[in-house]
Amino acid sequence: MVSKTLVTCALPYANGSIHLGHMVEHIQTDIFVRYLRSRGDDVAFLCADDTHGTAVEISAQKKGVTPEQFIDEVWREHRRDFHDFGISYDFYSSTNSPENRRYAELIYNRARDAGFIGSKDVEQAFDETAGRFLADRFIKGECPNCGAKDQYGDACEKCSATYGPKELKQPYSVLSGQPPVWKTSKHLFFRLSRHEALLKAQLQKLGFMHPGLAAQLQQFFDKGLADWDISRDGPYFGFPIPGEDNKFFYVWLDAPVGYISSVDAWKEREGAALDYWAADADARVIHCIGKDIVYFHCLFWPSVLTVAGLKVPERVHIHGHLTVNGEKMSKARGTFINARPYLELLDPNYLRFYFASLLGPGPEDLDFSLTEFRQRVNAELVNNLGNLANRTLSLLARDKALAPADEAVGGALVREVLGRVKEIGAAYERFDHRAAIKAILEVGYAANQFLTRTEPWKVMKTDPAGAKQALSEAAEVVYLLTALLDPVVPQLANKLAAQLNRPKLTFQQLEGATYPLLDRSQPIGDPSPLIGRIEEEVVAKLVASAPPVEVAKAAPKQKVAPVAEPVAELDFADFAKVSFVAGKVLAAERVPKADKLLKLSIDLGEAAPRTIVSGIAEAYAPEQVTGRNVVVVANLKPRALKGIESQGMILTAGKGGRELVLLDPGPVSPGTAVK
Ligand code: MSP
Ligand code: ZN
Repeated sequence: MVSKTLVTCALPYANGSIHLGHMVEHIQTDIFVRYLRSRGDDVAFLCADDTHGTAVEISAQKKGVTPEQFIDEVWREHRRDFHDFGISYDFYSSTNSPENRRYAELIYNRARDAGFIGSKDVEQAFDETAGRFLADRFIKGECPNCGAKDQYGDACEKCSATYGPKELKQPYSVLSGQPPVWKTSKHLFFRLSRHEALLKAQLQKLGFMHPGLAAQLQQFFDKGLADWDISRDGPYFGFPIPGEDNKFFYVWLDAPVGYISSVDAWKEREGAALDYWAADADARVIHCIGKDIVYFHCLFWPSVLTVAGLKVPERVHIHGHLTVNGEKMSKARGTFINARPYLELLDPNYLRFYFASLLGPGPEDLDFSLTEFRQRVNAELVNNLGNLANRTLSLLARDKALAPADEAVGGALVREVLGRVKEIGAAYERFDHRAAIKAILEVGYAANQFLTRTEPWKVMKTDPAGAKQALSEAAEVVYLLTALLDPVVPQLANKLAAQLNRPKLTFQQLEGATYPLLDRSQPIGDPSPLIGRIEEEVVAKLVASAPPVEVAKAAPKQKVAPVAEPVAELDFADFAKVSFVAGKVLAAERVPKADKLLKLSIDLGEAAPRTIVSGIAEAYAPEQVTGRNVVVVANLKPRALKGIESQGMILTAGKGGRELVLLDPGPVSPGTAVK
C-alpha cells in the first residue's frame, strides 16, 4: 500500500460553462475521494481548467477581451460552481500557468532527447483573411456523402459519415466565410508507435482500466499506432515549443500535464509534483474521465509519462455520458442544463444523491429523468432517510437525553447495520456508488421497520422509558448514517451530526466498531427536518423550454376500433407528471358498509406504508391481495373514501366488479418506478 493518492477529474475546457454532464464526473469522484479520506487515506484531489486552443481564442475575440482575461473569468465561474456543489478540491488550477509551461517543456525536452519527436510536412486548410490555419471544426461545407449543407470538416451530423476536410464540397472558413486555401507546414510528431509493446502491456494491467474499453483500444494497434501531431502553427493560444519558430504545443499535449503542474501550483513549491509523479514516488495516481477521452488518457498519456521518466497512473476510471430525459443534452430542447441554473433552483444534495444512486462502476450512460429524479429523491432521501432521522430525533427532543445502552433492544439492529459497513465502503471504492446507496437505503429501511415494530410514538404515553429506549437504539443508526452518507451528501451528514450533538463518524472509526456507538450519557442537539421534498414546479423550471411532444408526432393517426368513450388526448408533459411506483400490499381489510372497497396498507419503499382504498373487493378477498406486488399511482392528492384517507390508487385492468385483475409490476422492490 502506498502512502498517498492523487485523484483528478478531466480538466474542463475553459470555453464554456460547467453543465450537469460535467457534474456526473466531479460528483462521483468527490464521493470516491471523500470515502478515501473518511477511511484515513492521505488524498490530494486536484483539477484545473484546460485553457488552450483555438476555440478559447475565438470565444475571447467574440467577447472583445484577451484570451487571458477570458479564461480568468471562466476559471472563477468554474471554481464557484464546483465549490457550490460541494466538490472538495484541494486546489483548482489552470493549464495556462507558469508551472504547466515548465512541466510541458520538461516533458517535451525529455521526449526529444529520447528520440521520440519527429517532424513531417502536413497540408492544412488556411484562411487567408484570418491569417491562420484552420482546425477541422473551423471548416464547413457540403457533406461528400449525402450533400447536407454546413457540415464540419471531419464528420457529417446528418449521415454520420467521417472524412477529411479536403473532401468537403464548397468548403468555407467558419472564421471569415471565405473558401480556404491549402498550405503545407512542418508539424512535430510524438512517436507513439515506438511504445506499442509497452502500451499493450499497460492496457492489460489489472485494475488500470475497464477491460471492455481496453479491448476496444485494440483497434488502434490493429491499424498500427499512428504518431501523434503535437504542434500547431501560430497564431495559437498556447505555449511556444522550445527551439521552434512560431510553433505551439497542441492543446492536448499540455492539458494532461495540468495533472502534474497542479501539484506545484497547490503546494507553491517547484518540484512538489514529484512527490506523486516521480517514477519511484511512494504514491499512486487515479484519473476519472468520460468515455469520450479514453484514447488520450490510456494511450498517449502513459506513453508520454514513460518517455519523461514519470509515474504512470494506477487507474483510469471511465464513466458514461449523461442524457436528459433519455436524450443527448440539447440546447434546442432546453435540456442542456448548466450547473448555475440548477444551483439557483435546487439543493446540490439532491443531485449528488440522485447521481450516486445511478452511478455504477462501468462506463454505461446514465439518464437524468426529471420525473425519476424527483420521485427517487423524495422517496429515498427525504422519506426513508430524512424521516428516520427526524422521527427519531424529534421524539427524543423533549429532554434530549438518551437511554443507557440495552443490547437486548438495540444490539441486533446495530449489528445488522455495522455488518454492512464494509460492503458500502468497498462499493464506494470501486465507484459503484449505486450499490452503496442501495445498501444504505436498506439500512434506513431496517431502522424504519424497527420503529414501526416498537412504535415509540404510541408507547410514549404508557411506557415512556420503553419508548426512549427504542428511540435511542434508532439514534444509533442515525449516528451511523453520518459516516455512511458523508461521501454522497456531506452537508446532510454534517447536519445529522449537529443534531446528534457529536462529530461525524468516519469509516476509519467504524472499522471494528461494536454496539453501542453512541455515548449514551451525552445529550443530543436540536432536531430539524433534514431536507425538504423536491417540488414538481421547481423541477419543471429546470428545463428552459418544454420538450417537444415526440409521442404525438411519432404515432401516425390510425383508424382504430372505437372504444367505449372517446379518450381525450393528453400532453406528454402532463402524462409525465403521473408517478407510477411498484408497491407491496402488506395488509388488506374490508371497509365496513362498502361492499366494493378494500383498505390496503402498501409498502412503497417510503418511511411508512401508505393507506390506499381500492374498489377491488368484489374481485379479490383481503387474503388474496396480501403480499402481492401492485402498481400504484403515487402522486394523487389524498382523498377521502368512506371516511378513510386514501393516499394513492392501485392499477387494475378489466370491466370492474368481479372482472378485475391487479396489474403486476413483476418481482421488483417497493418504490421502484414503473415506466
Ligand atoms: N478538456 C478536455 C479534457 C482534458 S483532460 C487532460 C475535455 N473537456 S470537456 O469539458 O469537454 O469534458 C470534461 C469531462 O467532462 C470529460 O471527462 C467528459 O467526458 C465529461 N463530460 C462532458 N460532457 C458529459 C456528459 N454529458 N456526461 C458525462 N460526462 C461528460 O474533454
Ligand atoms: Zn452526410
